[in-house]
Amino acid sequence: MEPQELVAWALRAREQAYAPYSRYRVGAAVLAADGTVIPGCNVENASYPATICAERVALTGALARGKRELVALAVVTQDGGAPCGICRQVMAELGPEMAVYIADAQGRFRATTVAELLPHAFTGASLQASC
Ligand code: THU
Repeated sequence: MEPQELVAWALRAREQAYAPYSRYRVGAAVLAADGTVIPGCNVENASYPATICAERVALTGALARGKRELVALAVVTQDGGAPCGICRQVMAELGPEMAVYIADAQGRFRATTVAELLPHAFTGASLQASC
């Protein structure tokens, strides 16, 4: 799948964003190795910390559908904002080899990688190293 097509999925997912508090709408889409696309949007909560980001909705949704091999993720905000630190950590856990496309509401995107977004990640390997 071309990056632009995955970005289009994320643009559509953004329409479902539930963001009554921040009004900052985010859409995401994860591409699994078998070609399945799993969309996500941010879902806010009156208890603010209960909010979940679009990227993590898509990533956890992929796992829940039995998709463990993830090849790419697209995320769309109004202005092409970068993924938050918690989402980067979850990307490193569930899709360390993914390409990441960071797009704005016009569909313009830049391509990066999980390793570039979160260098020196704390991973399962880090836990093995402890006593
Ligand atoms: N948000 C995301 O969905 N993804 C990110 O990577 C950054 C932040 C959401 C959470 C909240 O609903 C809104 O954007 C403002 O922080």
